[in-house]
Amino acid sequence: MRTVILTGAGISAESGVKTFRDSGGLWEGHDVRDVATPEAFERDPLLVQRFYDARRSQVRSVQPNDAHLALARLEAELGDDLLLVTQNVDDLHERAGSQRVLHMHGELLRARCLTCGERPGWADDLAHAPPCPACGEPRLRPDIVWFGEVPYHLEEIQEALFACELFAAIGTSGEVYPAAGFVAVAAAAGARTVELNLKASNVTDLFDEVHTGPATATVPRWADALLAGRG
Ligand code: APR
Repeated sequence: MRTVILTGAGISAESGVKTFRDSGGLWEGHDVRDVATPEAFERDPLLVQRFYDARRSQVRSVQPNDAHLALARLEAELGDDLLLVTQNVDDLHERAGSQRVLHMHGELLRARCLTCGERPGWADDLAHAPPCPACGEPRLRPDIVWFGEVPYHLEEIQEALFACELFAAIGTSGEVYPAAGFVAVAAAAGARTVELNLKASNVTDLFDEVHTGPATATVPRWADALLAGRG
């Protein structure tokens, strides 16, 4: 069954990565507008670089949880029939074993050169303005899609949504577009739609089926049932 799964911050919450909107609009103490827009980066590049440096080093200290692992098992069974699209910038899906992951909002462990456009893998800090490995210019920014920027892989995602028979959204609040609109696209294409979330999201009403609870409990159960149902 051709399946698209969209994940958000909620799937990494039990690994210890903070979600964006569960702490009163603040993101680890910062208003998102101060750290996650191109304007913020122009105004105060050091603040933004330090913020992402801290997040990058935090992600190195956390581990994938049972929900990430369940999705990797699902991929092992479904193969190319499964496309995993994540809004998360951590690498927990990959570390759990998922191989086909589209990071529509970019990746913490990647930088982007403002001079030559290269997007090198990057595990260290950026605040000290290291040189780009490709062109040597010290103009690397985090390879994160900020508010007002266009997400990655939209064409490929749209094609998969048009063709899918099952769409699941896991741990995402349905507040940020275009991802929040994926359920409507998949439903219009005839897919069955499933939401797995700790609580109702902004778009819960659009789903055929809703599983409420922490991702480490709901996702393995749902994935196992899906595989059992394939007989
Ligand atoms: N299990 C399942 N769901 C959970 C859990 C959990 N343990 N903990 C929290 N959630 C759910 C919340 O109920 C909420 O619906 O995860 C969702 C987190 O929502 P957001 O913080 O808004 O995260 P997300 O939807 O991924 O944000 C989308 O917004 O700031 C931008 O670019 C950023 O990718 C991000 C995008």
